Amino acid sequence: MQFTVAIDGPAGAGKGTLAKAVAARFGFAHLDTGLLYRAVGRKALDQGRGTLDEGLAELVARELTPPDLARDDLRGALASRAASKVAAMAGVRKALVAFQRDFARREGGAVLDGRDIGSVICPQAEVKLYLDASLDARARRRHEEMAAGGAAGSLDAVRREIEERDSRDASRADAPLTKPVDAHLIDTTDLTIEQAVERAVDIIEQALARVR
Ligand code: CDP
Ligand code: CDP
Repeated sequence: MQFTVAIDGPAGAGKGTLAKAVAARFGFAHLDTGLLYRAVGRKALDQGRGTLDEGLAELVARELTPPDLARDDLRGALASRAASKVAAMAGVRKALVAFQRDFARREGGAVLDGRDIGSVICPQAEVKLYLDASLDARARRRHEEMAAGGAAGSLDAVRREIEERDSRDASRADAPLTKPVDAHLIDTTDLTIEQAVERAVDIIEQALARVR
């Protein structure tokens, strides 16, 4: 069976957490597509000695390897910022399309989370979810997560970083962050993780019943 769940939304909306829970619940494979952009951004920064060159980033994207995705420095603010910068480069996005589409159509079902999954990568996805939450809630979650991981940084700095990234992601020419018209909106501002998962599971079960 081929069955794709596309999850999009801004930083800290809860996409990754929900995607993992849904994948475990239904036995689907999960791809965090943000990790691809983080790995490209981080490696291109290294190779460019601190600056992001478009040609170099494109080359890195075309030749991305599993160890690039396993680096332990992909979650920090530097990688986040570099990710959203290389994500605005059309050549970088293009280089990553085939891998994501192949993943989405693998046998047994797949969940992909990112910014353009329902709009560009998998416009035919059986289920599209768009997660959102207030900027304050998203910044608070990210800040708590970073503090728990031992990273320094104020709540204000996290809020600014997220705001800057959201606005770059939503305003770029190629595959901007947007809610596809046929996506189900889940606003997680006042939801627990369990409540958000429950809503997603209901939507997915209905779609599965239609295709089975
Ligand atoms: O992937 P994305 O950036 O959209 O968000 P995430 O990494 O899944 O979630 C960011 C943080 O918010 C995590 O620490 C989650 O545990 C937390 N979270 C939450 O508190 N309530 C939710 N409804 C969803 C996520
Ligand atoms: O976890 P969080 O939501 O903060 O970020 P992420 O999903 O790891 O994505 C990092 C950056 O990669 C985003 O800010 C986007 O610029 C970019 N991205 C994208 O353009 N398209 C995707 N499908 C996934 C991520």
